[in-house]
Amino acid sequence: METQMLRAAIDQLKNKGYLQVCNVEVDPKFELGAVLKCFKNEVPIMFSKVKGNKMPVAGALFGNREIYYEMLGMKHEERIYRMMDAIANPKATKFLAKGAVMENIITRNIDIPKMFPIPTFHEEDSSSYITSGIVVVKDPETGKRHISVRRLQVNGGNEISILIASPLATKQFLQMEEQNKPLEVAILLGYDYSLLLASQVSSEVYGVDKYEVDSALRGEALELVKCHSVDLEVPAYGEIVLEGIMPPHRRKDEGPFGELMGYYGGVAPHPVVEIKTVMHRNDPIFQTAFPCREEHLSNGLIREIELYTAVKNLVDVKDVNVTVSGGCRFHAFVSIHKRQEGDGKSAILGALASSKDVKHVVVVDDDVDIFSPDDIEWAIATRMQASKDLVIVPGALGSGLEPSHSLSGITDKVGIDATKPIGELGKRFERAVIPGYEKIDISKYFQGENYR
Ligand SMILES: Cc1cc2nc3c(=O)[nH]c(=O)nc-3n(C[C@H](O)[C@H](O)[C@H](O)COP(=O)(O)O)c2cc1C
Repeated sequence: METQMLRAAIDQLKNKGYLQVCNVEVDPKFELGAVLKCFKNEVPIMFSKVKGNKMPVAGALFGNREIYYEMLGMKHEERIYRMMDAIANPKATKFLAKGAVMENIITRNIDIPKMFPIPTFHEEDSSSYITSGIVVVKDPETGKRHISVRRLQVNGGNEISILIASPLATKQFLQMEEQNKPLEVAILLGYDYSLLLASQVSSEVYGVDKYEVDSALRGEALELVKCHSVDLEVPAYGEIVLEGIMPPHRRKDEGPFGELMGYYGGVAPHPVVEIKTVMHRNDPIFQTAFPCREEHLSNGLIREIELYTAVKNLVDVKDVNVTVSGGCRFHAFVSIHKRQEGDGKSAILGALASSKDVKHVVVVDDDVDIFSPDDIEWAIATRMQASKDLVIVPGALGSGLEPSHSLSGITDKVGIDATKPIGELGKRFERAVIPGYEKIDISKYFQGENYR
């Protein structure tokens, strides 16, 4: 039985009752994205009728934390250790001579906008965008595989532009460009929860083969096949693979594009990919992701590992939350078992230093639910005094991907220590408790339709 990639994931989502199906025709220009956004990109939706193309589109598959854990078969409390374990103990992949993704191989007349129902999301976007493609390349020096998600601007015909922010991944292209040679690329659409998470592991921090991290995470070897026209491997059960090259010394304007935090990213010249071959399954499903909400959850889940480790080195940390509303990178909530005065400040230092992107952090005690904004606000309201609990670091290195600072990438960082004092003083901060509240079965008090 097929257990890997999008189709298997969609079957599972259906069986669990998480998949919403839209049978009304939607326009890929603005309308499809608007529907995804109405559900905050948290409800997986299959669009069966998309204007101008027969191919169905699946979106918002990866935007809900709890669904994400469930689809990976892990509990919230064990997520960080499970992911750390997969990174520390990657497992071998398996090669197949043939795979479902090879059912159709097209090498002529490739016209990307005609072949696929590619959405345009925001008013000022430069074009339609492939927002969820996993880009596969090989390091020209070491032969090591590299996978990551990059946004892809559709330029027309067989050409797309690619935005690569990561310095290590850009290096592969620049190395080939120095030798005046193209870099081979494969772009995969139609993957699953495990592969997306593995793709978000940073090569700079961990230097691992992300396909092997995926094998460890899914608990079975990831099944791969060779591409048709490039020397790269892709998952055997993917939906669509675009194979091509990034030619040296070619740049095209990319953007504007409505992206992180709901702002438009500017226009800049970026490398292009010329697509030479398209492989796809029979009756393929096109996969999309509304920018930039659902996609960053997987990225944030990996960031939580780094945050947790950095704080754990200093204090007894209970849990961490790199929040979705903070773009899964700018805001961190941390709960600690406070052992001594000063632990709150140490946790702030660890969290702010864990990544240049963490801009604001709130540290709370272990009786506060860091996944509840109400609880965080309650802790700030009642356990924080600005004159002693606010830490401001002016002019630190930060992310260039938000517009609030004048010098791109230089940002103030802020920590809020909303922990209560320990010892006698801490007793004033105990929460009022209703005995038995946690165990109450509320439906018992309301009969039939009265209860919802
Ligand atoms: C849906 C989605 C879209 C993304 N878009 C981009 C992008 O356009 N450019 C980019 O450099 N990174 C993008 N990222 C982030 C990278 O995929 C991510 O940082 C990855 O870990 C990079 O791997 P690397 O550090 O090994 O290069 C995106 C992530 C997701 C999940």
